[in-house]
Amino acid sequence: MNIAANPVVEADQTVYLKDYQKPSFLVDSIELDIQAFDDRTQVNAKLAMQRQAAGDLILLGRDLELKSIAVNGRVLSETEYSLDTEQLVIANAPDQAVIETQVIIHPESNTQLEGLYKASSDLFVTQNEPEGFRKITFYPDRPDVLSVFTTRVEADKKFPVLLANGNLIEAGEAGEGRHYTVWQDPTKKPSYLFACVIGDLAVMKDHYVTSEGRNVALEIYAEEKDIPKCRIAMDALKHSMQWDEEHYGRAYDLDNYMIVATSAFNMGAMENKGLNIFNTSCVLADEEYTTDAAIMRVQSVIAHEYFHNWTGNRITCRDWFQLCLKEGLTVFRDQSFSEDLQSAAVQRIDDVAVLKAHQFPEDSGPLSHPPRPDHFVEINNFYTATVYEKGAEINRMMSTLLGKEKFRLGTDEYFKRHDGQAVTVEDWVAALTAGSGVNLASFLIWYNQPGTPKLEAQGEYDAATQTYRLSFKQSLKAHPKYPNLKAVPIPVALALFNAETGEQLTLNAAALFENGVKDGVYLFDQDQAEIEFTGVTVKPVVSLLRNFSAPVNLDFNYSDDELAFLMQYETNGFNQWQAAQTLLDRILLNDHAAEIYIQAMKNTVPDLIQKDPLLASRIFDVPSEGYLGSRIDENYNPAEIQEKRNALLELLAREFGSFCKEAYLELDPDTQKEFSQAMGVRALKNIMLSMMARLGDTEAFDLAHQQYQLTGNMSERLGALRVLVWNDAPQAKETLADFYDRFKDEALSLDQWFMVQAAHPKATAATLAYLTAHADYDLGVPNRIRSVSGGLNANPVNTWSFGVQHFINLAKYLDEKNPIVGSRLLQALSRWYTLAEPQRSAVKAELEALKPQVKSKNVSETLNSMLNV
Ligand code: ARG
Ligand code: ZN
Repeated sequence: MNIAANPVVEADQTVYLKDYQKPSFLVDSIELDIQAFDDRTQVNAKLAMQRQAAGDLILLGRDLELKSIAVNGRVLSETEYSLDTEQLVIANAPDQAVIETQVIIHPESNTQLEGLYKASSDLFVTQNEPEGFRKITFYPDRPDVLSVFTTRVEADKKFPVLLANGNLIEAGEAGEGRHYTVWQDPTKKPSYLFACVIGDLAVMKDHYVTSEGRNVALEIYAEEKDIPKCRIAMDALKHSMQWDEEHYGRAYDLDNYMIVATSAFNMGAMENKGLNIFNTSCVLADEEYTTDAAIMRVQSVIAHEYFHNWTGNRITCRDWFQLCLKEGLTVFRDQSFSEDLQSAAVQRIDDVAVLKAHQFPEDSGPLSHPPRPDHFVEINNFYTATVYEKGAEINRMMSTLLGKEKFRLGTDEYFKRHDGQAVTVEDWVAALTAGSGVNLASFLIWYNQPGTPKLEAQGEYDAATQTYRLSFKQSLKAHPKYPNLKAVPIPVALALFNAETGEQLTLNAAALFENGVKDGVYLFDQDQAEIEFTGVTVKPVVSLLRNFSAPVNLDFNYSDDELAFLMQYETNGFNQWQAAQTLLDRILLNDHAAEIYIQAMKNTVPDLIQKDPLLASRIFDVPSEGYLGSRIDENYNPAEIQEKRNALLELLAREFGSFCKEAYLELDPDTQKEFSQAMGVRALKNIMLSMMARLGDTEAFDLAHQQYQLTGNMSERLGALRVLVWNDAPQAKETLADFYDRFKDEALSLDQWFMVQAAHPKATAATLAYLTAHADYDLGVPNRIRSVSGGLNANPVNTWSFGVQHFINLAKYLDEKNPIVGSRLLQALSRWYTLAEPQRSAVKAELEALKPQVKSKNVSETLNSMLNV
């Protein structure tokens, strides 16, 4: 054996936060000229650069064919600069340098969907965050370089739409059947916010007058047939504009706001200045073609991208380690917007469910990182649940602690101090502190360390002195890369209830809640602490972490009866739901008996269905097999979890018995005035149907079939289809075929057709082979891949058997073709190490075997971290 024969010396490609240095040159202005042809695109750029620190002039560039480069009007020879696969460096550049470059790029063969790429035969779009701009032209492509952009776009007239950021200042003929437009964006921006679009699209137009009196032209571009599906997005956009004026005092700053929809997009959407580019799945909404959940998502993503105009664009990030500065804050803002849109409690339930199902597992496994990481190999790998969702939770905690008014004073100060700047998380917390007058510095700890804190609490009632004592303890699992973990500030929102009457008590705790309050927030920021309530005349039931006031794992020894009590009497809808979830965790993970839960459901549901059908639909949530699996750290056996969960669902169905059919027949979404409650009714009806079907009630199949046929609403149609398909009803085949025929030309609806089949609990390798070999399956379209992979993932038993090969193959294939998506999909296997043997070793061997076969930084970094447990 020749050990020395294969000396693979991998350069360490890790980037560290501590190494941050200011750029040596800034760019005052850039003139871009983009000329698209069928077989290439020529990009000419003119950068007016100015030295601000010592050092070489560095232009980042990737996959660019350099035709020429000139400095201050003089063309450089090859000896006057150095060029490698990542950058072009000019040593000894003059302090004032006008750089002119000409490059050729190939959007027509760009499958990575990063930079400028052809999304379909008649559409070019861009995706430049975080580092895509360097695939368009040579540039100091980093967020702390802000410049004024003027963009000329030229193409054949078969592409009538030519867009870029800012105001249209010129348009005209370019000869040979070509035309051009020139756009100028008055606001300085980093290159990741640059966008351009060349295509054949239709448009929906509207307008909005801002609180400052600016009349803004609003435009949503999409395929002609999809224009009617843009109405909900357009209304959500106007609503967002108003919401940001009212809640944050922020008005829009340009005369136009454009949104372009494309079906080939790696992510949800992108906040490019004045020219958002959206995945069709996040902009098209229509009850005939998309589900209620998708409609809610469209509204929240429209708001999210709009809110970025102030939190992200006007104030941006100094470097990519600060990503959660803009994402965490913007997610918090879009969540608050959605709370106003539907019901605050249900929105919170849905957001926490996502946090617990994705962020908590991420943070307890090999991919765990702080919301602001201090190192990375590939920044694209850090658009994570931790950066986005945990980032949002940190902002929510600070806002909970400050209350509405002080939080607003803090954000006002942030906008006042930093408008037009590229800043850090420290700058944000400092501005909030200065504006509110409350020192929030300790919240920086949350940004800087990984892991979900465990919050242990104990309650003790002393009848003789009428006091109730609560003690708290916090701890974090050790992390090899982040020693020195510190206690974090944890706002604990709490209430006490009279255990006999269910009434909420007034809180009296000296020094904490001075004059007695009902809804209290206690800031626990030590390793341990104790608080004491006085004047408590009966033994209370405490409700902790109301509204999920902090992203922690709560450990409190409630009795099952106390949880059942909270399901019934807690007035915070979130904690009502949480009590049910805690009971279910105990039943499904710790073998508690189900009787108390069932009885509590029977006590709670009938009233709640009348009062708040939307919340009632969530009370029926049973944690997914995936979530339950993520709570198990070793010897995880997916089949065992599946069995227990099915048994519970069956018991619930049996216990609710004839109630299901009665409720099903009685519930009518048309009687609801509000969309959100109608949505709740539709969800409830589907739940009732699936409970009936679970017991093999053939009448359920007839009702489902009828519902499928008679409705024009996608949530109803899909809900019925699911019941038929997942229960192998006699009508399943025919109904699937019908769905295909109706929606074969509607990509988003067809995604659902793929998803339903992939998510069949009894799907097999053959099901998966059939779906991935289908003529409509397309590895070039991330949405389609995600519909099948996401469906498959709904059943961990399948993920961890034939699914393993599926994800490995995808990672291998996408490693070169689309590494951003490849890396993301591979993460489906990140908890392999928790599996019981022999599965654990089998999956590990597959992952090890993949290692030498992947090259991209994206997939390699993910795979290395996954194996490093
Ligand atoms: N900033 C975008 C958003 O949150 C997402 C961009 C994601 N890009 C990426 N390469 N991962 O709205
Ligand atoms: Zn965002």
